[in-house]
Amino acid sequence: MIDLDASRTIDVESIKSQYADKFASYVPKAHTTLAQQTIPSNTLPSGKPRKYKLSISPPLLNSSSPWATDVDQIKALYDSPYTGAVTSRTSLLEGFNHDPAIHQHIFFPAGSSSVSPAAPKSDASAGEKFIPDTASTSSLNTYGYSPHTLSEYLGIINEIVGQRHLGSATVYKKPFILSVTGTPDEIALSYALLANAAEMDEDLRLAMEVNLSCPNIDGKPPPAYDEAMLNEYLESISDSKSTYRGRMGGDSVPRVGIKLPPYTWYVTDFTYTLILRFKDISPVWCQSTQTKATVRLTTTLCRKGQFEMVVKSLLAAKSSEPNEGSVVDFITCTNTLGSSLVLNSDLEPALASEAGTGIGGLAGAALHPLSLGNVATFRKLLDDHPDTENILIIGVGGVEDKAGFDRMRKVGAEAVACATALGRYGVDVFERITKGS
Ligand SMILES: Cc1cc2nc3c(=O)[nH]c(=O)nc-3n(C[C@H](O)[C@H](O)[C@H](O)COP(=O)(O)O)c2cc1C
Repeated sequence: MIDLDASRTIDVESIKSQYADKFASYVPKAHTTLAQQTIPSNTLPSGKPRKYKLSISPPLLNSSSPWATDVDQIKALYDSPYTGAVTSRTSLLEGFNHDPAIHQHIFFPAGSSSVSPAAPKSDASAGEKFIPDTASTSSLNTYGYSPHTLSEYLGIINEIVGQRHLGSATVYKKPFILSVTGTPDEIALSYALLANAAEMDEDLRLAMEVNLSCPNIDGKPPPAYDEAMLNEYLESISDSKSTYRGRMGGDSVPRVGIKLPPYTWYVTDFTYTLILRFKDISPVWCQSTQTKATVRLTTTLCRKGQFEMVVKSLLAAKSSEPNEGSVVDFITCTNTLGSSLVLNSDLEPALASEAGTGIGGLAGAALHPLSLGNVATFRKLLDDHPDTENILIIGVGGVEDKAGFDRMRKVGAEAVACATALGRYGVDVFERITKGS
């Protein structure tokens, strides 16, 4: 870990001028290429510009996974000119007891859930680049969380950013998204750790992603499927943010997002449909502020599906800052789809797992349509209300090429992330996605 006090005495401007050439040549080609080629999602349906509170440029990054566990992996992700942010593997305050004999992953071909018993399953912490075969584009995993603590990740990040101070070529203050989990109280403590680190070094761009969606912890279902639990987490986030907002000022508090599981249940509300129909018949009536408010209230109260449950909670978790809307700055959707099973050709579970069933989280190509549908549905629902319309969506699930990236952007993801493809191709995957090759 570098000495924070020492790092602050470094004269960044003089280093910049010393390395002017490198800084000038750093402008990542990916930045312009992606920005020009994809559909911007930064305009509201009303035509007004969105005011996202987190900037990820280029809008491509890794999603939390074992391929973002150690310093070398995180540094490689940070140094890539094709990533606009780096997400760490999910950590706990006290670390997680990772056991390679239980916590495993496998790649397999979409459309087939049968693999050879000899197919390699591995402990991805080693960060190996592994391309099993071109057809094995889906993954199943039974991982828990990182063996490293959140403090260790903050140390790793300080080390990486500290090296930049000393002349590495990266000038863009690339955000680090620290994926964390734990109880609501532990999340409050995690936020305090992050905010303190951000306060001590103005070059750190830190955001916190609260993982509420790991399907692999025996006896602990993903909290984001349960309204009461979700609300408890959001309350804790809200309290932490308002404490630090007072200390650090509204613009510099670390941004917070929640990592959501894939949802499947959406209700098209009858009253809502009726009002929308009426809008076509009587446009003047529907222009009034009172009518718009009634429509919003009716839709919020009447809709009862999973997606609506999340949006209702996001709406209820209002920031203490006037006019800031929801306390949540971004949502990352989706995590893996739990309760999935891959059998080998001996009809045995392909993986070990905590519960001994081999049941785990599905990701990659097999998840892509569901993740795409989640992003599309959330973008539409979030846009229905001024308090949620500026929540940024990081779209994740089965993206491994430019076509997948474009699909995610088209349905409303401001930034796009991947995990399975990172495991298959290594950090080069971001160049592949950007260049479409
Ligand atoms: C092996 C593996 C481990 C993962 N571990 C985590 C994790 O620690 N925290 C987390 O939020 N998501 C984790 N994920 C989920 C990914 O971040 C991502 O949301 C999901 O895999 C869908 O993206 P993909 O299809 O690009 O893999 C993991 C995914 C895989 C494949």
